[in-house]
Amino acid sequence: MKNIAVMGFGTVGSGVVEIIEGTSFKEKVGQDISVKAILDVREFPDSPYSSLITNDFNKIIEDDDIDIVVETIGGINPAYEFTVRSLKAGKSVVTSNKELVAAKGAQIMQIARENNASYLFEASVGGGIPIIRPLNNCLAANEIYEIMGILNGTTNYILTQMIKNGQSFESALSDAQKKGYAERDPSADIEGFDTCRKIAILSALSYGKQIDSDKIPTQGITKVALKDIEYADKAGYVIKLIGKSKKVNGKVYAKVCPLMLSKNHPLSGVEDVFNAILVKASATGEVMFYGKGAGKMPTASAVVADCLDIIKHNGFGAPHWQEGGELTCCNPDKVKYYIRLNITDNHRAEKCVIAVFDKVSWIDTDSRDAAFITFAAKEDEIQECIDKLGSLIGKENIVSKIQVEID
Ligand code: HSE
Repeated sequence: MKNIAVMGFGTVGSGVVEIIEGTSFKEKVGQDISVKAILDVREFPDSPYSSLITNDFNKIIEDDDIDIVVETIGGINPAYEFTVRSLKAGKSVVTSNKELVAAKGAQIMQIARENNASYLFEASVGGGIPIIRPLNNCLAANEIYEIMGILNGTTNYILTQMIKNGQSFESALSDAQKKGYAERDPSADIEGFDTCRKIAILSALSYGKQIDSDKIPTQGITKVALKDIEYADKAGYVIKLIGKSKKVNGKVYAKVCPLMLSKNHPLSGVEDVFNAILVKASATGEVMFYGKGAGKMPTASAVVADCLDIIKHNGFGAPHWQEGGELTCCNPDKVKYYIRLNITDNHRAEKCVIAVFDKVSWIDTDSRDAAFITFAAKEDEIQECIDKLGSLIGKENIVSKIQVEID
């Protein structure tokens, strides 16, 4: 019998307990698995598992019968302290905590190795989508040079509701919270920080070195208006919150921002809570992973699979990377931008746009919300043009600026 402790009895933690207690894994891993303790500061008198709940971490660390600790507390503290203490006590740790893996993954994996324990985190990116293990194992023969993904279920759900049903941002966010997709503080979703942590994890795993997620330029979806979604549609695009990274001369170029994707792009049809990750690798070429990126059971599925992996393989071949990855802020690719203006004199605005950009693709020139897509150029060159346009028509009249993905 393998005994497991679950720290954090929230959405994901309770899903883990339900799967383990409701399933026999004896045929799969040769022994039964049981949840021996659940750590949470809250009380759950009505839960069928109330007798397992404790608020004392020492009961877990001092129990030699507990082999695996599941950490679904989230955030850095106390999750970091409990994780390190568990590993130092020789217990393996499985987590869905992307914030902790992104911030301290290299260090924690080293502590795990020094203590013959494992630190697995399949659930930290893409919810129920297998992505960590495929990158670590199945694509091991490749050099990975680009990753691009829809990595946050909440924002993809919100954007889909806005696109398909014209639902307001606030009401779609409230639905995502009710469905258990959103973070406790949903600003991590809508401001892009959750996507940022996930692209940092995928980049570290793919390129071999930890990168500082706080330094990745990150923009969420709070400034995306229904008008932008409508114009994107008119021009043949959809707007998605994308995390993207690329290996450039030994450094990593990474960013998180809303991108306009052509309707032919493989990520453009990924809707609702679904996530997808497009990986470009030296031998396989493009590979795409798709599935439910958030929610209780999909995420718990990935956590439990990691527990089973530890029981079967004792953590052999667990993912790892080193400290010391370097970011570059220089986008190696050419970019295009979609720009929306707030104007009263369309004729003058049009003349200013042409004076600055020479040639653009207009989406709308007739209304107060004139909008166009620029030519493709290096990022600083386009920014210079946007600044020039701002000085001619007033910076405050450039109301939207969204990068357009060049296929
Ligand atoms: N809040 C996250 C999301 C949960 O919406 O994707 C899964 O990491």
